[in-house]
Amino acid sequence: MSGSRATTLYFFLPLAVAAACASSSSSPQADTASLDRDGSVPTASPSADPLAPPEGAIPIPKESQRTSGDPARGYRAVVNEGYVSLGIPWSGFSFAMTPLEARDSLPGREGKNALVGYSNNVVTNRDGMELAVPNCLVCHASRVNGKLFVGIGNPAHLPAIPSGLATNQALVSMGLTTSAEVAEYQEYFAHFVAANSAGVLFPFGALAAHRDPQTLAWSSSTRFDARTNLQGWVDIPPWWRTKKKNGLYANGMGRGDHVEHMMNMSVFSVADVAEAEQLDAMFVDVAAYLRSIEPPKFPYAIDLALAAKGEKAFVKTCASCHGTYGSNESYPNLLIPIEMVGTDPSLAENPWPNPDAVAWFQSSYYGKRARLEPSRGYVAPPLDGVWATAPFFHNGSVPTLEGVIDPAKRPRTWAMTFGDSDFNPDAVGWNTTGSGLSYDTSQPGLSNQGHTFGVALSVDDRRAVLEYLKTL
Ligand code: HEC
Ligand code: HEC
Repeated sequence: MSGSRATTLYFFLPLAVAAACASSSSSPQADTASLDRDGSVPTASPSADPLAPPEGAIPIPKESQRTSGDPARGYRAVVNEGYVSLGIPWSGFSFAMTPLEARDSLPGREGKNALVGYSNNVVTNRDGMELAVPNCLVCHASRVNGKLFVGIGNPAHLPAIPSGLATNQALVSMGLTTSAEVAEYQEYFAHFVAANSAGVLFPFGALAAHRDPQTLAWSSSTRFDARTNLQGWVDIPPWWRTKKKNGLYANGMGRGDHVEHMMNMSVFSVADVAEAEQLDAMFVDVAAYLRSIEPPKFPYAIDLALAAKGEKAFVKTCASCHGTYGSNESYPNLLIPIEMVGTDPSLAENPWPNPDAVAWFQSSYYGKRARLEPSRGYVAPPLDGVWATAPFFHNGSVPTLEGVIDPAKRPRTWAMTFGDSDFNPDAVGWNTTGSGLSYDTSQPGLSNQGHTFGVALSVDDRRAVLEYLKTL
C-alpha cells in the first residue's frame, strides 16, 4: 500500500482514537429525577403537556443567521469550486486516476469536475495551477440502496474513495511535470502530516495550531497542543438538519453564525484572510444550499394506519426532545446532559476542539461571528429523513432504528458493511452480517449504551413508532 493512500485515509478519518487510557464505560442511564443540571436553568414546570421540555434539558437559543445565499449557487460551489486550495496537481492526478464509473459522478459537475469521482473537485489555484482537491463529499455523501445522496454522512468513518481518483502516490509523482507541481504536492502532504500530528483524526485543532488566528498565516511550528482524550469517532449528521438546528455538531457547540462553522475545514489550506473572505461569501450560498436540502422519502411501502398509531406514542414519549413533524411541526433545540441521555460520554467529555483549540477559534477569523461552546451533553437531533441516516447516535453505535427504540435489539459487535444491498427496510438501517470492519461496542468511545426511552413503550407501540419514523 502506498504511503499516499495511507496518509489520505488517516487524515480523512472523521474522528479520533487518541489516548489509550480507557474511560469508564458505564454511565448512569436516563434518570430525570437525579440530574446533574450542568448549570442549566430549569425550563419546565411539571405539566401534562407532552411537548414541554423535560426537566434538565438545556435549550439552545436561536441566533441570527445570514440567509441571503442562493442554494443553486451553493450546490454549484460544493461540487465544483476551490474552497480547498491545496491538492494534487492535475498532471499527476490525471496520470494516476482510475477510470470514473457513472455511479460516482454527480449532476452539475462542470469542466474537469465531470471527469473525477464525486469526492474531489478540480480547481485552479492562485498561481494558475490546476489541482484535484478533496471536497466536502469525502465525508458528506453516501449511498443508500446504491443511490448516491449528497448530504448524507458517510457511515464508514472512512474517506470516500470512489472511482475517478488518484491514490497511488508513486504514479501521481510520475505524472508531475514541473518543479512547481512537485512543490505543490509536497505542501499538500505537509498539511496532511500536520493534520495527523495531534493523534486526533478530526484535524481542525491540529491544523489551527499551525496558524496565526488573525492573519491565518501558516507556520511549521505549532502554537498549542491540539490533543484531546476523545475516543471513538463522530458519526456524520445529514446536512438537511442544519436548517432546524441552533447549535451545530453532536454536542451543540457550533453557536452563532453557521457559515463560519461550515467553512472551518478551510484551516487545511486557506492562504490568508483575503482568501477566507472569498470563502465566507461563497459559504453564505453553501449554507443556503444545505438549508434547502429535503430529506429523501422512505423508498418502500409504509403501513399508514400503524404509523398514525406510532405518531401518538411518539408525541407522548419522544416529541418533548425531538419535536413534532408534519404540517404543525416544531423543534425544541434541546441539549440533553449525558446523565440524562446516557449514551457514550467520550465526545461530550472530550470534544474534538480541546480548550486551546476553542480559544484559538474564538480569537480567530472564524470566531468573528461564530463561537464554539462545548458542553457535557448531546443535542436531541431533528429526525427528518432519519430512516436514511443509520447508524445512529453521535458515535454511530446502533445500526438500526429498531435498536434505537429497543435497546435489547442493539448488536454488541457488528460488521460495518454498508453495501448497496445492505439496507434493511424492516429494522430500518443496516444489515450487519456481511464482511466489513467490526464495530465493537465494548471499545472506549464506541459504547451503544443509553437512550432507553423506548423501553417505556409497549411492544406494539415500539413497532408503531418504528413505522412512524419511516414517514419523517
Ligand atoms: C473529514 C470529514 C469531513 C469533511 C471533509 C467535512 N466534514 Fe462536515 N462534519 C464532519 C463530521 C465528523 C461532523 C460531525 C462533527 C460533530 O458533530 O462533532 C461534521 C459536521 C458538519 C456540520 C454540522 C451538522 C449538524 O447537524 O450539526 C456541517 C454543517 C458540516 N459538517 C458541513 C461541512 C461542509 C460544508 C464541508 C465542506 C466544506 C464539510 N462539512 C466537510 C466531517 C467532515
Ligand atoms: C430526554 C430527551 C429524549 C427523549 C425523550 C428521546 N430522545 Fe431520542 N435522542 C435524544 C438525544 C440527546 C439523542 C442524541 C444521542 C447521541 O447522539 O448520543 C437522541 C437520538 C435519537 C436518535 C438517533 C438520531 C441519529 O441520527 O443518530 C433517534 C432515532 C431517536 N433519538 C429517537 C427517539 C425516539 C423514537 C424516542 C421516543 C421513544 C426518543 N428518541 C426519545 C434525546 C431524547
